[in-house]
Amino acid sequence: MNKFIEVKNLVKEFPIKKGFFNKQVGAVHAINNISFDIFKGETLGLVGESGCGKSTTGRCVLGLIPPTSGSVKINNIEITSADSKTIQHLRKKMQIIFQNPYSSLNPRMTVKDILREPFIIHEKNLSKKDVDKKLIELLDMVGMSESVLNRYPHEFSGGQRQRIGIARALTLRPEFIVADEPVSALDISIQAQIINLLQKLKNELNLTYLFISHDLSVIRYVCDRVAVMYLGEIVEIAPTQELYSNPKHPYTQALLNSVPVPDPNKDLSSRIILKGDLPSPVTMPSGCKFHTRCPYVMDICSKVDPEYTELSQNHKAKCHLLN
Ligand SMILES: Nc1ncnc2c1ncn2[C@@H]1O[C@H](COP(=O)(O)OP(=O)(O)OP(=O)(O)O)[C@@H](O)[C@H]1O
Ligand code: SF4
Ligand SMILES: [Mg+2]
Repeated sequence: MNKFIEVKNLVKEFPIKKGFFNKQVGAVHAINNISFDIFKGETLGLVGESGCGKSTTGRCVLGLIPPTSGSVKINNIEITSADSKTIQHLRKKMQIIFQNPYSSLNPRMTVKDILREPFIIHEKNLSKKDVDKKLIELLDMVGMSESVLNRYPHEFSGGQRQRIGIARALTLRPEFIVADEPVSALDISIQAQIINLLQKLKNELNLTYLFISHDLSVIRYVCDRVAVMYLGEIVEIAPTQELYSNPKHPYTQALLNSVPVPDPNKDLSSRIILKGDLPSPVTMPSGCKFHTRCPYVMDICSKVDPEYTELSQNHKAKCHLLN
């Protein structure tokens, strides 16, 4: 399979500045040396608690924010050092769908203006008639009729607004989409409709997704492979089926155990329950970043950062227990 996205040793720190001279006094270590690939046509899931660095990863991959160090290649093009013309060309191929479609859609613009904007910026040669035709096609793709074109975002329900957000992301026919918690703000009954729409579009348009969510049920349904993030690191990555049936990292095990179990007879004795809050990404724990919460913590864990262990094809995790 072709690698569409290649991320190597990505680091992102946000400086913390203070005082009159704006002196840097520390840094938020949002992403700590992560590497992963996404293959063409694949959906890679990114899962983890709030603040673990999922959105920052998505924004770095799209080139929306510069990483502190590391490499991001899209279709073999290094975006961290690309010139502005190359970036503009790549931008057309990559889009983002946000959690809250209401805040990402300009409330003062009609659906028509919202969807027309990318064409005005990137496809200046298209006639008005051709653009209008494309808008109707786009709405059809996301299950809406052209009658919505002259309406404003506030006139729609959350699910419909997310359909408009998706249509906007698709305007320039991207190849890669970062879906950042695309259904988290929606009613549970609407979530399935939007997930099914994203799946349908993926198949029809041969899209590649980075799918960000803290909801393990959604990730399981949508993703081919899953990367589990903890404090800016990928602690485990595996094909979805493998990760859910054979989780190896204590953090992945704890996350999976926090999902409600529908079967009351299921043995819960081996369940690890995640205790305490995520440590601050400003003062990171030494060694294994999970050692302050891990039920299996050993002496070595606070001293030495574990390496990745290859567990099977495409399945690796970083924990001293696996060495
Ligand atoms: N622009 C910024 N300036 C400073 N710190 C930031 C900035 N953006 C993100 N952070 C910090 O980086 C860390 C990772 O944030 P990020 O938004 O990537 O997490 P997340 O996993 O997407 O969380 P959530 O599930 O809540 O969306 C957090 O500690 C966050 O406060
Ligand atoms: S390295 Fe140690 S602290 Fe970290 S997950 Fe493994 S057992 Fe737990
Ligand atoms: Mg986020």
